[in-house]
Amino acid sequence: MDVLVIGSGAREHALVRALLDDPGVDRVVAAPGNAGTSLVAPCEPVDAADPAAVAALARRLGADLVVVGPEAPLVAGVADAVRAAGTACFGPSAAAARLEGSKAFAKEVMAAAAVPTAMAHVCTTEAEVADALDAFGAPHVVKDDGLAAGKGVVVTDDREQALAHARTCLEHGPVVVEEFLDGPEVSVFCLTDGESVVALAPAQDFKRALDGDAGPNTGGMGAYSPLPWAPADLAEQVVQRVAEPVVAEMARRGTPFSGVLYCGLALTSRGLRVVEFNARFGDPETQVVLARLASPLSQVLLACATPGALRDAPPLRWREDAAVTVVLAAPGYPEAPQTGGALGGLEDADAVEGAHVLHAGTALAPDGTGVVSSGGRVLSVVGTGADLARAREAAYAALRSVHLDGGLFRTDIAASAAGA
Ligand code: AMP
Ligand code: GLY
Repeated sequence: MDVLVIGSGAREHALVRALLDDPGVDRVVAAPGNAGTSLVAPCEPVDAADPAAVAALARRLGADLVVVGPEAPLVAGVADAVRAAGTACFGPSAAAARLEGSKAFAKEVMAAAAVPTAMAHVCTTEAEVADALDAFGAPHVVKDDGLAAGKGVVVTDDREQALAHARTCLEHGPVVVEEFLDGPEVSVFCLTDGESVVALAPAQDFKRALDGDAGPNTGGMGAYSPLPWAPADLAEQVVQRVAEPVVAEMARRGTPFSGVLYCGLALTSRGLRVVEFNARFGDPETQVVLARLASPLSQVLLACATPGALRDAPPLRWREDAAVTVVLAAPGYPEAPQTGGALGGLEDADAVEGAHVLHAGTALAPDGTGVVSSGGRVLSVVGTGADLARAREAAYAALRSVHLDGGLFRTDIAASAAGA
């Protein structure tokens, strides 16, 4: 099977790596990819958010399967265009990707499917926002309705700050005000062909920039799997109470959802609640989930791209190993990342036992003498081991081998789960 992976982050590098490991895969091409993927697979330049361009590239390469990593291409209709051109595609249609693209739409679908989530008001005026804030009380949760790369949500005790964020969001669309959910957050990726659902191993992401969950929200600074503290039947609960009802509701509406339904959940004192849906794999959770997957990845992704096929796919197998990933970010991330810094020690990091480096915002230096940073999240170092403590040691040992002037990373990823 020839597979084309769309995107350029560490999530896509993880997908490329897992596909290259799969004996059923003959060739993997990344588009546009990054410096890391270019070392292991051919990379093709493409505007990932241009549906016609991606469909044409897939045809030109003769790809048997296109795997779309990020949300923006999905919301732009890349999966629709690829399928219309006759190529199988892992990823939802634009109509189904609205589960991520509009928080108000996701709330409506959850209400129709009786899926547990935070109570919410969709507001179009400041007065409605003020009423909703008072109805729910502090801490206040205010969300931009549309895609905001993880930066559209403000959680605060400060009513004025909540109102100020709502005013900014209202300039371009509706705003969602929610009740606050207490309890730890988990990410469960549910693979689906639009009919059946198979969950991947749960993971936890660290969204704040600084140790101790301080600092601003980011795209994610690290992750680990498994979650020793979570209920043993968590994935099963999410399939039954969240993913299957949502997939059935989307099919009933004539806009079946296929690909991966990323269920972001809070395990609250009152039970499991959906915080958000994404229509794609999470980054950096994918880096740890795929490090633990023992089954060949291409089969299950192709089954999701083929309506009705997932039911007959063999059950997924998992490694006993735990995995931890730590993100190295550019100085100034997330507000104003400085790019162009030289990266050193990448080979030493890869040589650490149980560790591997996945690139994100990296590029080959213009003079061909190495790798430089080109984005906010520069790379993800993944460590695996018999337990979380050993996986953590491998990840941090590898990270300490990498050099980037002013590079930022959290030192407490998976620390409490590992008993560190
Ligand atoms: P979202 O973009 O909806 O995932 O929100 C980003 C982050 O804001 C989440 O990962 C949570 O940490 C936090 N958050 C979102 N909604 C709530 C909520 N209702 N209660 C508490 N925290 C929330
Ligand atoms: N790790 C959060 C996300 O992928 O949205």
